[in-house]
Amino acid sequence: MATNSVEAEIGIIGGSGLYDFPGLGNVSEFRLSTPFGNPSDVVTVGDLNGRRVAFLARHGRHHQHSPSSLPVAANIYALKYLGVREVISVSAVGSLREHLRPGELVVPDQLVDFTRGRRSTFFDRGLVAHLPFAEPFCPRLREQVLASVGSVTDVTSHDSGTYLCIEGPQFSTRAEAGVNRALGMDVIGMTAAPEAKLAREAGLCLATIALVTDYDCWRENEEPVTAAMVAEVMRRNVAAVRKAILHFTRSPRGERTCGCQDALAHAIMSNAASMSD
Ligand code: ADE
Repeated sequence: MATNSVEAEIGIIGGSGLYDFPGLGNVSEFRLSTPFGNPSDVVTVGDLNGRRVAFLARHGRHHQHSPSSLPVAANIYALKYLGVREVISVSAVGSLREHLRPGELVVPDQLVDFTRGRRSTFFDRGLVAHLPFAEPFCPRLREQVLASVGSVTDVTSHDSGTYLCIEGPQFSTRAEAGVNRALGMDVIGMTAAPEAKLAREAGLCLATIALVTDYDCWRENEEPVTAAMVAEVMRRNVAAVRKAILHFTRSPRGERTCGCQDALAHAIMSNAASMSD
């Protein structure tokens, strides 16, 4: 995958309720087109505490892309092309556990993919690659993100959890919520899985900050989740996410000892000899 002269080092993918990142200095906007189509929107690159940051609104700045039709491959390709090495992906999630309360932050350490038919690989054009994905989020970047999330003292944060990624765009039924809880899932959203898989294939480190917006629909005597509820809780709490990201940009640059950049090294299965036949 081609990398341009470095425009940015940190990528931020903003989810529902995080459509921009005020405070960026020396801003350039990139309207890119990639072999995988156009990204969700322009990528805004700017300075934050001396670091070059690329911000992309996952659903578009006007929330015009549904989870099932997000151009995730183009988004990841665009960030890689701009030189990004570390991605912080921000998501609104429902809670499947009593102790994960709306308004709180979770940095998931595991992922279950219940999506159907979404593009989740760059390798479907004659090259076959099988990457290790036992640790779906970069363990090294997660630690740094955890420290930054922990520095935001006015919000409770949780240092682990299993993120269940459903197809959507509908929220779950009560029966599904019961099954998801019985299966051991902690939070539920619609976007993290293809993003984490494609980032790993692109050799990017990725960690997710999940903002709990609701209790889905499993709790007795509680209104089931609505889009309005998600938007309102995000609106009230998105400042905490911004504070965590600001802290992250002030932290010393991490050495990439994780190996994410070399994830492809032993992953390609295609036989080069037979490909030249
Ligand atoms: N995003 C925010 N809340 C959600 C929920 N309950 N289910 C799926 N995605 C969500």
